[in-house]
Formats: sequence, structure tokens, C-alpha cells
Amino acid sequence: MSSSPFTCRALDASSWPAFAALVERNGGIFGGCWCMGFHPEGAGKDSTAALNRERKLGRVGAGSAHAALVFEADECVGWCQFGVPEEVPRIKSRAAYEKGQSEPPDWRIACCYVGKGHRRRGVAAAALPGALDLIAQLGGGTVEGYPEDAGSVPAGFLFNGSLSTYEKLGFTRNRKIGKHRWVVTRAVEPGLTSAEATAAAGSPEGRSFVGRRRVRALSDRRGRD
Ligand SMILES: CC(C)(COP(=O)(O)OP(=O)(O)OC[C@H]1O[C@@H](n2cnc3c(N)ncnc32)[C@H](O)[C@@H]1OP(=O)(O)O)[C@@H](O)C(=O)NCCC(=O)NCCS
Repeated sequence: MSSSPFTCRALDASSWPAFAALVERNGGIFGGCWCMGFHPEGAGKDSTAALNRERKLGRVGAGSAHAALVFEADECVGWCQFGVPEEVPRIKSRAAYEKGQSEPPDWRIACCYVGKGHRRRGVAAAALPGALDLIAQLGGGTVEGYPEDAGSVPAGFLFNGSLSTYEKLGFTRNRKIGKHRWVVTRAVEPGLTSAEATAAAGSPEGRSFVGRRRVRALSDRRGRD
């Protein structure tokens, strides 16, 4: 039986050097974004690659940047960034998203990235369940993603991952916010692994968890404010 060559770790001070090496091997990502583009600061024209790196490192130190890093042996080959909406507010198609929004999710998937030379080998497909496992450890809750249908768009649009990757993990389509971009959602039970949570999301018991978690998330959020 073949087993996955990939393992996941949280982005934190100890995994920062491996993350930084991946970013540096790939030109800073989009010419120097350093995975800052979805944070409130952004990574736009008024910033530089050096400042983006400094800001990302500052957020990692402060615990206000979250990602599951995918490792093959000792090398970080990709990631799935996630966070509470306030941490990663600058999603694409934001106006269309906000128009149809009823209530915010507890968490959102902001982006997926796989280093050049490692693509089409299942790294993104390993990163997303890695992020769900970290979300479970952080208390679980409702999770949104904004993937594109990979069959309909050029690869450059797949920075949030492919719709099929989400659907295989039990996410369901909520609404369209672009020609091929969907809001997809699912619940993550606190403390469950992604495999256990995927099974739970398909059951009535798993779905009823969403309501219970909503109450807990709101009270947690009040504690943070
Ligand atoms: C899009 C991306 C994340 C996919 O990662 P990956 O590890 O190659 O993806 P996987 O091998 O796990 O494949 C997952 C699914 O996506 C599909 N897919 C991946 N790359 C694809 C491509 N270029 N075109 C069409 N489908 C693609 C796969 O077929 C698979 O779908 P399936 O399960 O239905 O067969 C990766 O190509 C990437 O990082 N691209 C750059 C994105 C970027 O610039 N991000 C910047 C940060 S915002």
C-alpha cells in the first residue's frame, strides 16, 4: 500500500525558516507578496517584498498568521493559509461575496500555494486537510473556501485551490461569487482529525454541530474583542 510522502505542520516560529526558504525559492510569491495579500495590510503598491516579509514574520511571532505547511522530508513544498475573517479579510470577489453574505464563517481558507517543481502531485490536496486539522485544534467551527472550478479556468486562478479538492473533503457549494468561483462551506468539529471530521460532515449529527459551534464561536469572539 502506498502512503503519502507529505506531512503537515503549523506555520510558527519553528517552521518559519522552511516557509521562508520556500517563498525565497519562488521569488517572494507574486513578485514579493510573502503571503501578505489577504491580511488587512495587503501587499500592494505601497509595500515592498522586504516589508511584506517583515510583516509576515511579525504576524507569525504574534500568532496572527495561520497556515498548514506541507513538508516532503525536510523541505516545505506548499501551504494552505487560513484565519478568522478579520485576519484575512481581503478575499477576491469581495463585493460579490459581501452582497450575498448572511453571517460570517468562523474561519476561511485564504490561499493555497505549491512551489514550482512540486505541482500536480497532491500537495494542495494534502494542505487543505492539514488546515482543517489545525482549525480543529483551534476549536473548530464553520469554514469557508472560495475555489474555482479547475476545469473552467487557467491555473493562475486556482490560488484558493480547486473546487474538486474542497468537495472531496465534504465542503458543499453555497453560492457563486464569480463566473467560476464558489463559496463552499463545511463544519469542523473541535479536536477531530480531518478524516474523522469529513465523515462527521456527511452525517446528520455532524451537520447539527454547526449550530452548536456557532454559539461557542460567538462567545469566543466576544472574549477576543
Ligand atoms: C493551484 C495549486 C495550488 C495546485 O496545487 P497542486 O499541489 O498542484 O494541486 P494537486 O496536485 O493537489 O491537485 C488538486 C486538484 O487541483 C487540480 N489542479 C491542480 N493544478 C491544476 C491546474 N494547473 N489546472 C487544472 N487543474 C489543476 C488537480 O487536477 C486536482 O483535481 P482533482 O482532484 O479533481 O484531480 C498550485 O498549482 C499553485 O500553487 N499554483 C499557484 C497559485 C498561486 O500563485 N498562489 C499564490 C498565493 S495567493
